[in-house]
Order: sequence, then C-alpha cells, then structure tokens
Amino acid sequence: MKRKIIVTGGCGYIGSHTVIALIQNNFEVIILDDLSNSSKETIERIYKITDVKPKLVIVDLKNDFETKRIFEIHKDAIGVIHFAAHKAVGESIEKPLVYYKNNLCSLLNVLEAQNQFGIKNFIFSSSATVYGLPKKLPITEANKTQRPFSSYGNTKKIAEEILDDFTKSKSDFSAISLRYFNPIGAHESGLIGELPNGIPNNLMPYITQTAIGIREKLMVYGNDYPTRDGTAIRDYIHVEDLAQAHVIAMQRLINNENKTVLEFFNLGTGNGYSVLDIINSFEKISETKLNYEVTDRRAGDVPELYAEVELANKTLGWSAQKDLNEMISSSWKWEQNFRKKINKVLDFSIKKTQD
Ligand code: WQD
Repeated sequence: MKRKIIVTGGCGYIGSHTVIALIQNNFEVIILDDLSNSSKETIERIYKITDVKPKLVIVDLKNDFETKRIFEIHKDAIGVIHFAAHKAVGESIEKPLVYYKNNLCSLLNVLEAQNQFGIKNFIFSSSATVYGLPKKLPITEANKTQRPFSSYGNTKKIAEEILDDFTKSKSDFSAISLRYFNPIGAHESGLIGELPNGIPNNLMPYITQTAIGIREKLMVYGNDYPTRDGTAIRDYIHVEDLAQAHVIAMQRLINNENKTVLEFFNLGTGNGYSVLDIINSFEKISETKLNYEVTDRRAGDVPELYAEVELANKTLGWSAQKDLNEMISSSWKWEQNFRKKINKVLDFSIKKTQD
C-alpha cells in the first residue's frame, strides 16, 4: 500500500516538481489546487514524466467546509506539503487583504482539517523573505526573522508563527518549514517549468521570455548596489533540488527523526550571484544577446541575500546538486519547448480556421 501525501498547490511551479519527486519515491499523491496560478495540464505533464497520473481535486482552501470534506475522504494520508498561496511580491503590496486572507485562511483550514482527521506531518513552503533585511551574511536559521517588506513575505512569517503556536499546543503534530532562497530552473525533461501568469515578476522567467521574443527587453532594477558589479545578489537554487529537499523533509517527519515539533531549514546553495552574473551566464548558455536596460532600483529589494546551508546539509543530509549552468539551461530549454508547443497549437488553430 503506497503512503499517501496531500500536496496543496501541487499544480504550481515548485509543487509540481515536488509531486514528481514524491511519485518517484513511491508515494501516492493527492493534489489540492484552485488553479488560480496554474493549469490542470500540469497533471498530463507529470503523467508523461512519471507514468503516474496523480489525483487532482480542484478546491478553494479558503472554503472551510470543502477543505474538511476532502480531508475526510483522504484521512488516510500520512502528511501534507502545503504550497498553496499567492506569491507575487508586487501584487501583495497592492492587495494586502487578498494575500492575508488567501494565504492565511488556506493555512488555517488545512491545519484544522489535519487536526480533525489526525494527519500528523506537515511541510510548509516558506521563504528567505522572512529574514527581512539581513544584518549579516550568510543567513542562518538562527537569524531572527524580521518584518518582511511585502504582505506576501509577511504571510510567510505569520504562517511560521501560527505553526509555532499550533505545534506547541499538540503532542503528536510535527512540522518543518522550508525557507527557499531563489527557486529557478525546470525539470530536466523540459516538460514542466515555471509558468507565471501575465508579466513575470521574477528575473529568470523575464530573461527567458525576453530571449524568446515575448518581452521587448529586460529591465535591470538598479546597478548602484554595494556589490561587486552594482547589481543585486541572490542565492539561486534549482527547483529540482528544492523538490528533493521536500521529500527528504517529509521522510524525516514520517520516521520521527525530527528533534523538535517545528524545525526550520534554509534551502539555498550558499552561493550568491548578481543579476549581471545571471545575464552573462544566460547569454553564454543560450548563445543569444539579451536586450536589457538598467533602471532604478525596485522598491523592497535588498542588495544581497544568500544562505548558510550547513543545517540542511548536516541534519537533512541534503545539499543542492545542480549548478548555475544547469539552472539556467533548464529554464531556457523549458521556455523553448513550451513556446514551440504553444506555436504548434496556434498554427493548428489558424490552419483550422483557414480551412
Ligand atoms: C531577483 C533579482 C531583482 C526581475 C522573490 C521573493 C521570494 C521568492 C522569489 C516567491 C532582484 C532583479 C528581477 C526583473 C530585475 N518568492 N530583477 N529585473 O525578489 O529576490 O525574491 O521571488 O517565490 O520570496 O521575495 O526574486 O527574481 O524577483 O529578483 O533586475 O525584471 O533580480 O531586483 O535583484 P526576489 P526576483
């Protein structure tokens, strides 16, 4: 009998890559997703890669009754990995109530449902943004969290505080919060990857969409930072490395290896790369010249962020395996494959209308 894991937001970017890693580690996966920032076509793509079609339940996790009804059906699950959340930093600043309501009500409903049906293991998708503006680098889990700059980031910080109180109130519920640095890249097959709705907020999808001709040019947000080339530095990590970390963290809880009822781990490579590093590497790998222009800094950006990853290395026995070249080339491969597919569908539909 396969052990069942519920993955909320499992059709999303990091969620779908984690679903693949779970299936490849012989788990049965139930995906709960409202498809607000993803597509059910992802299920077909997961099927192509793993030969397994995970069950998808389309649900708004802000609906308490619906959430409980689904958890009752799947109360034999042994754990939950919770990705479901809105994640656009800029949008969260314009629409804070939408973010607090969506991200926190969904979390509360999932935790209540788990509590009601005795599902004891919980992995939370958190973010390095909970550290705010770091006083020193690299950032370790011992760094105190600070008020993030965006409502998105603050929903992650508040969620961790909710988890802290909830796990302390229970004797048999354990959680691990995984604090991602900058996830980029795509599955090596080129069949799934990041699919941002509308204009990408993040650097990597904006670069690949510019290179493929969807965007006219990349704006580089500031080159007057106190860094080696003036552009901001981040710790980019391959999404497949992130996915592996989620499986390892879930197995840690299932095997009762966790030392406390709530643990935190930074998920990064420990290396910082600047925006210009990424652009230069992309131009080399793609053999294309990227059209970009330096503009003002973006509000809320910090000059430099990169992780101390010793705790995850030592305690989880996990470390990032893929380097910057693999991150960038997999992003580019995905963008090309996806656009090729889109153009094929467009050509087909144009032909059909002409016939
Ligand atoms: C990276 C660097 C930008 C776009 C955020 C969230 C984090 C996580 C990842 C969700 C920065 C620069 C970007 C562009 C640019 N959230 N940039 N031109 O802001 O580090 O992290 O996304 O998954 O929690 O905080 O990522 O990719 O937006 O920016 O110059 O068009 O690229 O200024 O220095 P960020 P990012």
